Amino acid sequence: MYMQIKQEKGHYTLYKESEAIGTAVVDGAAILRLEIVPAWRGRGYGSYLVKELLRRGGGLDPKQATRFTAPLPRDEAGRALARRFDFVAEGGRLVRRRVPDLSAVELCHEFLELHVTPGGLYLDATCGNGNDTLFLCRLAGQNGRVLAMDIQQKAVDRTNKRLTDAGYEKVGRAVLYDHAKLGKLVQPGKVDCVLFNFGWLPGAEHTVHSTAQGSLSALCAALDALRPGGVLGAVLYSGKVIGDAEKQAALAFFRSLPLTKYTVLVCEFANWADTAPLPCFVIKK
Ligand SMILES: C[S@@+](CC[C@H](N)C(=O)[O-])C[C@H]1O[C@@H](n2cnc3c(N)ncnc32)[C@H](O)[C@@H]1O
Repeated sequence: MYMQIKQEKGHYTLYKESEAIGTAVVDGAAILRLEIVPAWRGRGYGSYLVKELLRRGGGLDPKQATRFTAPLPRDEAGRALARRFDFVAEGGRLVRRRVPDLSAVELCHEFLELHVTPGGLYLDATCGNGNDTLFLCRLAGQNGRVLAMDIQQKAVDRTNKRLTDAGYEKVGRAVLYDHAKLGKLVQPGKVDCVLFNFGWLPGAEHTVHSTAQGSLSALCAALDALRPGGVLGAVLYSGKVIGDAEKQAALAFFRSLPLTKYTVLVCEFANWADTAPLPCFVIKK
């Protein structure tokens, strides 16, 4: 069965083989009209068309904020279609709103923004593509310093390029370094924030990734490096490729930290899969 949607300005035609079986008129994110030829109704073609319109307008992207509207349906089939795609009646029209999912890394950034003051010394212990390093540079401000590291040269190069492109070459720099030896890089008690985003380099082979043993050494060293009031942020991963050992080892380590010296938070996304990224925070007292 060959399905195709042809678009001409705001007018969409759904073809089955060479027969036009449905149409939609759309103005931006407003669906003005949607119809399936009567002989083809009740067979999922309306869903197919709506899904495609949503997809083209970013409505299926969990990272985008979207708001679609459509006319109120005239019959039960139309109402069922609207319910299937989470449209609700509002002000004489149907409306479908999507708020982007909060990611573990965003949560981590938001937490650090609240608890870390600008102008200090920050470490990115897994710089990867440099997103977290750039975030730490923005947080640090022109008077702060960010030292980033990675065991892969391409990650270090990418991060340094992004720092230069963003005008942060005087604030931050990335070096080729194993975070397990982090203690040799900085003096104890001098660091305001250490950020770990474990796992592998996004977009690269998955063969190089952080490990339970190296990560535990790095977490211990990071806590020694923090000054009182300093914050450690870590996003833990598990799954088919990296397994569960690193996540469980890090969790056991965090849970064993004495309450008299540290505040520890494990921020589970409770209705996500068990393998969802897990943001954790340690505040040194
Ligand atoms: C999920 S990525 C980090 C993403 C990155 N923070 C960003 O914003 O793009 C994990 C990174 O950790 C690095 N890594 C793994 N083991 C490491 C180690 N022992 N020391 C330093 N970096 C390591 C990997 O090479 C990879 O680039």
